[in-house]
Amino acid sequence: MAILLTGGAGYIGSIIGERLSDLTRDVVVLDNLAQGHRDAICEGVIFVDGDIGDSATVEEIFRRYRVTAVIHMAAETVIARSMTDPGRFFRENVWKGMSLLDSMLRCGVDRIVFSSSAAVYGEPREVPIAEGHSQNPINPYGESKRAFERVLHWYHEAHALKYVALRYFNAAGASSRFGEDHDPESHLVPLVLQAALGRRDHVDVYGRDYDTPDGTCVRDFVHVIDLAEAHLLALEAIDRVGSGIYNLGSGEGHSVLEVIECARRVTGRRIPLVEAARRPGDPAVLVASPARAKRELLWEPKHQDLYEIVQSAWEWHRAHPDGYGS
Ligand SMILES: NC(=O)c1ccc[n+]([C@@H]2O[C@H](COP(=O)([O-])OP(=O)(O)OC[C@H]3O[C@@H](n4cnc5c(N)ncnc54)[C@H](O)[C@@H]3O)[C@@H](O)[C@H]2O)c1
Repeated sequence: MAILLTGGAGYIGSIIGERLSDLTRDVVVLDNLAQGHRDAICEGVIFVDGDIGDSATVEEIFRRYRVTAVIHMAAETVIARSMTDPGRFFRENVWKGMSLLDSMLRCGVDRIVFSSSAAVYGEPREVPIAEGHSQNPINPYGESKRAFERVLHWYHEAHALKYVALRYFNAAGASSRFGEDHDPESHLVPLVLQAALGRRDHVDVYGRDYDTPDGTCVRDFVHVIDLAEAHLLALEAIDRVGSGIYNLGSGEGHSVLEVIECARRVTGRRIPLVEAARRPGDPAVLVASPARAKRELLWEPKHQDLYEIVQSAWEWHRAHPDGYGS
């Protein structure tokens, strides 16, 4: 009786795999290593190098390991890339996701926890953002996540598929073993820490003219260990809730400049910044209301402090200055 973790060689997946294997759950990671790393997979976790769109491989995994639930994290994730190549995002995040669901139906696997995103909301009208907030994604990445949530809804209605969609805000931080290493890197905390390590000349600050206190974008950073915990709770709750959508965020916003300042304090190093134009597809403020996840999943994030989040990431980056390549 195993759990299939798609995208489990990626940043967040590596830490969920670690947590599940701490609990001695049988875990199979399916990852095509387009972004993931072999070294990001815990020992004891079974690894299959393959694509979620390859239904023969997926169904072989379901049968061979007697999979009872899927945590589906595999996706194209770089928002800026989605603005220039939307087709790729709909193929990977929607079409291949549907192939995975059809394989689940054929093999009698009826539970899925899906990595959705705050990008489904677009430019918010109210902050903090609750799950019932209107959805007007402003990039194809967010649109693809929204579309897959709708697919899940209709598969639930038609086929009694049970699902929990978790809308992450900004995942950040590291465990003692696993951290964030994307190529290209587009996330603020690793970019800032790479600059602190001298691996980048500077950090680009995209936009100083947003309608926010210091003019830079405001985001809600959630520790990746707290995110991992929410997936375990979602797996426990899925039979009870049947279908559910939950924000995962801290409920607090930090601006880009605040994060850079925090990283300067954590690292004690210079972090040069360069002001750049706004990036298309970036809303000014994204801050979650995590009340529903707290109430219904009994999620209690324990590492909300920005300093602690950046510190954990710094420890990992210092130990892995070239990421998993080191
Ligand atoms: N990092 C964040 O802050 C954040 C925020 C919101 C949502 N999410 C979502 O969480 C999930 C994980 O994010 P992450 O930051 O760990 O990303 P990541 O890129 O590190 O991990 C994704 C993994 O999926 C794999 N993958 C991609 N396409 C695949 C395919 N077709 N078949 C098999 N494997 C495939 C990649 O190789 C990679 O290892 C994604 O679905 C992402 O959209 C992340």
